[in-house]
Amino acid sequence: MPAENTPTGAHAASLGKGSPAGGRAPQRLAQAALRDVPWEVGVAKPDPAIVVENVTRTFGGLTAVSVDRLEVQRGGITGLIGPNGAGKTTLFNLLTGFDQPNTGTWSFDGRPLGKLAPHQVARLGVVRTFQLTKALSRLTVLENMLLGAQGQRGESFLRALVPGTWRSQEKANTEKALDLLRRFKLDAKKDEFAGTLSGGQRKLLEMARALMSDPQVVMLDEPMAGVNPALTQSLLGHVKDLREEGMTVIFVEHDMDVVRDISDWVVVMAAGRVIAEGPPESISQNQAVVDAYLGAHHDAPLTVEEEDQVLAEAERRIAHEENGEVIDSDTTTRGEGR
Ligand SMILES: Nc1ncnc2c1ncn2[C@@H]1O[C@H](COP(=O)(O)OP(=O)(O)O)[C@@H](O)[C@H]1O
Ligand SMILES: [Mg+2]
Repeated sequence: MPAENTPTGAHAASLGKGSPAGGRAPQRLAQAALRDVPWEVGVAKPDPAIVVENVTRTFGGLTAVSVDRLEVQRGGITGLIGPNGAGKTTLFNLLTGFDQPNTGTWSFDGRPLGKLAPHQVARLGVVRTFQLTKALSRLTVLENMLLGAQGQRGESFLRALVPGTWRSQEKANTEKALDLLRRFKLDAKKDEFAGTLSGGQRKLLEMARALMSDPQVVMLDEPMAGVNPALTQSLLGHVKDLREEGMTVIFVEHDMDVVRDISDWVVVMAAGRVIAEGPPESISQNQAVVDAYLGAHHDAPLTVEEEDQVLAEAERRIAHEENGEVIDSDTTTRGEGR
């Protein structure tokens, strides 16, 4: 392997080339930490990174999310499952500032995240992935990566969507982007439009882009959906690598084999609520879970359009923010913190 392709630091351990002896330690640690936690909804975790309390979100008469309490253990992979329409994407939207709740609070490392805009949440270390939008399809793979960079002035993955901003990013960001693209085997595609990538490659790109901001918590919304089987294993490997690097991962997935394979803990939602949580082996025996799936409609969710809308709104807010305008109450906390 050429010298410039040699990964450094934590990434080296994650590439799976004869995994070093300690390579599986984070998985063992996460599972050991959760071993004595009761299989109860809302149960306290030994070391929670994310704590959600009394969060509700309604759309008209529909309660999309109603979570009384949810703690997410640091350093583990938490699988979030539930039938279509259960509220998983809405919960991600809320936790990452893409949507505002009717009630409730949530925190990362004890720091409240409510009322923050997506780029502020990202700056604090919590990111999520989206399906790529049309706008991003017209940027090259490398340009997409640079949208994920966290610049010196606190630019975020979304702030940088404002045309021109990414061009002023430092050389270091480009280097970092190229490193990540090599890791995700997308470096040969760096100058191609993201729109020309396969579904699976887009998912990899999204994940790579999320890592540009050095997150501590990564929320992946159906990272395997639409990915052909040849890339599934590779994607799964990348998700496990995030844990190896000490990140906290929450991911939405429908395939129970995948969920069992990689989750340290599983949270089940139905009709907006958390109806069960526990280690993977506890879930399939749970009657509430079986009932939720049997009673569920398996029609297609409307998430692509919804996510496009939310992203467009976030871009709009950021553009306004850059002009120093306050466009609604949700942006009034901006500029605080660092
Ligand atoms: N922006 C929205 N407007 C109206 N209803 C919505 C909106 N977003 C989500 N919903 C509804 O909220 C419920 C939960 O949706 P969602 O969070 O996408 O579920 P999941 O990701 O678990 O499939 C669904 O009934 C969905 O139709
Ligand atoms: Mg969804």
